[in-house]
Amino acid sequence: MIEVKNLRKEFKQNRADAGLLRMLFGRVPSETVTALEDVTFNVEEGEFYSLLGRNGAGKTTTIKVICTLLLADSGTVTVGGHDVERESSSVRAMLGVSIRGERSVYWRLSGRQNLAYFGRLYDVKGAALRNRIEEIGEIVGLSERLDDYVERYSMGMKQRLAIGCALIHRPRVLLLDEPTIGLDAASARDFRDFISHELRARENVTILYTTHYMHEAEEMSDRIGIVNHGRIVAEGTPSKIIGMVPGNSVVTIDAKNAVNIDLSTLSALDSIERVHAESLDSGSSKIRIEAVVGTEVPVADVVHRLTSLGAEIGNLSVSRPTLEDAFLRLTAD
Ligand SMILES: Nc1ncnc2c1ncn2[C@@H]1O[C@H](COP(=O)(O)OP(=O)(O)OP(=O)(O)O)[C@@H](O)[C@H]1O
Ligand SMILES: [Mg+2]
Repeated sequence: MIEVKNLRKEFKQNRADAGLLRMLFGRVPSETVTALEDVTFNVEEGEFYSLLGRNGAGKTTTIKVICTLLLADSGTVTVGGHDVERESSSVRAMLGVSIRGERSVYWRLSGRQNLAYFGRLYDVKGAALRNRIEEIGEIVGLSERLDDYVERYSMGMKQRLAIGCALIHRPRVLLLDEPTIGLDAASARDFRDFISHELRARENVTILYTTHYMHEAEEMSDRIGIVNHGRIVAEGTPSKIIGMVPGNSVVTIDAKNAVNIDLSTLSALDSIERVHAESLDSGSSKIRIEAVVGTEVPVADVVHRLTSLGAEIGNLSVSRPTLEDAFLRLTAD
């Protein structure tokens, strides 16, 4: 649905001391920043694809090129087979966009007036527009508040309205740049539920998403592309990305009567890499069991062996490598 191939984009940036240099030398050497070095990825129809990357990695620039707000220096982008440069109006008709920092709704208008305004921009009018506004009010959970001024909305309501405006013309593709920034934990959760259940289920849109919240990307994405210095450095399902960096799943057990147990009975198990025990002041032991990379500790088996040797199991915790671990490794300098 979205095909991005070898995208490159440089920006000329004014130096902070440009004024002084111009006064002294009459000219200012221009500085270029390469925002996109070589970005290639595809988003399939109906897919939820997230771009993750550090600040300045090139995520927003990529989104702006796809939605025809920026022209790339080279490379191609098509949306539903339409080229963003040559067929920009067909592309715009297929897209709904919400970009962080771009004020996308009018605070002095009501929710309904905003939706009507965006509808007319996209040539949705009359009864079709009125029906679509009611429908969107329901999808984004603002039916009761559509006639309130947006300035009275909470941040989460404003975000949902912005998405509602982006949906007014039934786009097949939605580009969302950090839509959950600034939401409290509960509102962000509601927002994710709204995207996963209401939006994806009812509207059947393809979604390209950016976020700095790892759990959000992990929970919602079919696939993730990790962007670093203007390139996609890793791509795949969340679990594939997590599996890309070495990291072991670890089980930690507090046990009583375990001091004299011969732990080699655990390290003999196939998927166990290492076992380490430490005696605690309380007289119990903390046993740390690391699995071989790519496997899991066989918890039931371990507990069975320990209890049959007389240990009494207290706390047991399992930790696995996270998307954040993988992200930090894949984007390290
Ligand atoms: N209009 C612009 N003029 C000059 N440089 C720009 C412009 N827009 C982006 N850049 C530069 O391009 C690079 C990529 O920026 P971009 O906004 O795409 O990053 P990002 O991945 O969205 O980062 P963030 O996570 O902070 O939003 C940065 O170095 C940025 O300073
Ligand atoms: Mg950005």
